[in-house]
Amino acid sequence: MASDTLTVTDNRTGRQYELPIRDGTIPSMELRKIKTSADDFGLMTYDPAFMNTANCRSAITYIDGDQGILRHRGYPIEELAENKRFLEVAWLLYRGELPTEAQYATWKSEITVHTMVHENIKKLMEGFRYDAHPMGIFLSTVGALSTFYPDAKDVQNEASRHLQILRLVGKVPTIAAYAYRHHLGLPYVLPDNELSYTGNFLNMLFKRTEPKYTGNPVLERALDILFILHADHEQNCSTTTMRVIGSSHADPYVSLAGAAAALYGPLHGGANEAVLRMLAEIGSVSHIPEFIRRVKAGEVKLMGFGHRIYKSYDPRAKILKDMAHQVFSVLGTSALLDIAIELERIALSDEYFVSRKLYPNVDFYSGLIYQAMKFPMEMFPVLFAIPRTVGWLAQWDEMLRDPEQKIARPRQVYTGSDLRHLAGVREPVGA
Ligand code: ACO
Repeated sequence: MASDTLTVTDNRTGRQYELPIRDGTIPSMELRKIKTSADDFGLMTYDPAFMNTANCRSAITYIDGDQGILRHRGYPIEELAENKRFLEVAWLLYRGELPTEAQYATWKSEITVHTMVHENIKKLMEGFRYDAHPMGIFLSTVGALSTFYPDAKDVQNEASRHLQILRLVGKVPTIAAYAYRHHLGLPYVLPDNELSYTGNFLNMLFKRTEPKYTGNPVLERALDILFILHADHEQNCSTTTMRVIGSSHADPYVSLAGAAAALYGPLHGGANEAVLRMLAEIGSVSHIPEFIRRVKAGEVKLMGFGHRIYKSYDPRAKILKDMAHQVFSVLGTSALLDIAIELERIALSDEYFVSRKLYPNVDFYSGLIYQAMKFPMEMFPVLFAIPRTVGWLAQWDEMLRDPEQKIARPRQVYTGSDLRHLAGVREPVGA
């Protein structure tokens, strides 16, 4: 008997089955062999919320939650964040290797020429109410791009996929910035192709009457690192949504609109806002012990702590903690940062948090940094969606290249009524 198999005995029939173990998984279709009779459908797995199901093979991102490891294409996130630019990491995620200088120059210039949006897109965005949430505007507009690029339906064509990826990576900052300016009632600012990816984004957000926008290079780099940290995180809720919609061969614009909708949910992209509200509610370092008491009593949660996958310090949170100090040294200190640091210090030495392996996650410091950079809270999920666009697209492209993938179609356990008939309807003869 091979060692990489699992032997299952079916107590109903007494039969034994050898199930192969591959890459630490059992191919779930193998369970179908376990039947009580020839017309039995066979055994399925029941896994609400996909807690223990690998839905794909992926070579993009590796996470070890127990050890706090995050790697893209093998490279540790710490090394990428410190040494690379966002568009280099974007290429790495999408193409599997870091770009050569020539590849980077072409990639950057091709993205840059796709930053503008059609004038009708602007008109479409103008149609939103004055108080429309920027994330609602963002995801609707990304979906609407589908109608501007009907060629995108050719998802099996590699060259077409590449073109849509250039368009999307190029246009999402423009759409995000227009959504923000619409929210404030300010005129839209055209992309400035002489600036970097994040420099141009800051230009489209914050330029007023000056002829040429010049941002602070420390903040521009900080945003670039934030984008690197948010670019991909393997099979999370929004990425799975992108793969599932894309599996029907819907075009990438509507697929990405769906992924952005998943990110919009407060359980996914909205926790950094909750952290800011919590820190403001605590109000002062002297109130922390009382807040910790309430957390331990189960009255409130310590927002920005805990993670489904990480059972140690989220590596992204470590980088952001250092970055918070840099950003605040440029923009002036914040009482909320002092509260956050002391809160973290107390929590990490408290038995309640230690025994439950609760550590700061990426959201603990990101909201503080965004707020210091003058982003309103409504923009936080949009700021997540821009870099995650790259991860969504890399995963979408990988899914379409994967011969094992098909249209996603889970099964269910039916729990409804047995057969019954409408009153007065006679059962057909022979039924
Ligand atoms: N504060 C206090 N206690 C907590 C927290 C927290 N933030 N998180 C988990 N716990 C406790 C739970 O009450 C539970 O305690 P118990 O064993 O006594 O019942 C134990 O730790 C295990 O927690 P679970 O809820 O089982 O952990 P799960 O993996 O389901 O939840 C989650 C993970 C949702 C992230 C959770 O830790 C949480 O709500 N954190 C706060 C919200 C947050 O920061 N979300 C951002 C996540 S990162 C991201 O999505 C980008």
